[in-house]
Amino acid sequence: MSLAGKVVIVTGASSGIGAAAAKAFAQHGSKVVITGRNEANLKATEAACKAANSKVELLLIAADVTTDAEKIIKKTIDKFGQLNVLVNNAGVGESGAILDIDVEQFDRVMNTNVRSVFLLTKYAAPHLIKTQGNIVNVSSVAGLRSFPNISVYCTSKAALDQFTRCIALDLAPKNVRVNAVNPGVIVTEFHRRLGMAEADYAKYLEHSKSTHALGRVGEPKEVADAIIFLASDSSSFITGVTLSVDGGKHAMCPR
Ligand code: NAI
Repeated sequence: MSLAGKVVIVTGASSGIGAAAAKAFAQHGSKVVITGRNEANLKATEAACKAANSKVELLLIAADVTTDAEKIIKKTIDKFGQLNVLVNNAGVGESGAILDIDVEQFDRVMNTNVRSVFLLTKYAAPHLIKTQGNIVNVSSVAGLRSFPNISVYCTSKAALDQFTRCIALDLAPKNVRVNAVNPGVIVTEFHRRLGMAEADYAKYLEHSKSTHALGRVGEPKEVADAIIFLASDSSSFITGVTLSVDGGKHAMCPR
């Protein structure tokens, strides 16, 4: 599938990886539905998409994925009449060891990273079957590997990886592909939202040079490029994969 003219939803498009993915789809001539909770930030993504492709057709939907999944799909179909690609990118983390973390944090992470993806997938699937489209989920190296003090996030992304494989099997007979990308540390708002102070974040990025085989952290565009690959015809025989985009972090082991 060439991505030109295809209708693509990107959740969490108001910053980071989602904003970079929206811009990349715009560059490929897709019609892009950019959805997120912060309207001002969505406008910034809109401007970036237009700068990348002045003719791009966009739909902005201010919505929360935990409560508005049906609305996001309905508005997309009302405007464009079809859906070709769903990118489930919106996600949150919560840190804390099991002695500290509470059930509200657990629910917030699971509702955002897993339950909303279930709902969006469910509402999108009939439309993706019509277009022989596909889904790309944004998971994490934390879905594939275990880290201390972030158990709920790791568990949510492991669930997302398994959901990706299972739904790939559910939808394969309908010729709809379902894949995931698993980024390593990428420079976005993610870690600040996790509660890291600036000095700690700077230290973490420095330390991350030693935890990524390529000796550096990643940029949102590098994840967006992998999302574009999985959404496009270049990956027409690929379904059910969790593609690490992590500078080799998943392959490393402390010693
Ligand atoms: P970010 O914090 O810049 O972007 C996350 C986006 O999700 C934001 O636009 C946020 O508003 C949106 N979002 C969160 N909850 C939402 C909700 N309930 N409804 C609608 N939108 C919501 O962070 P980043 O890094 O761009 O995160 C994107 C995805 O990448 C997430 O799923 C994250 O788990 C994943 N990821 C990020 C890594 C990193 O190092 N930055 C590493 C591995 C995975």
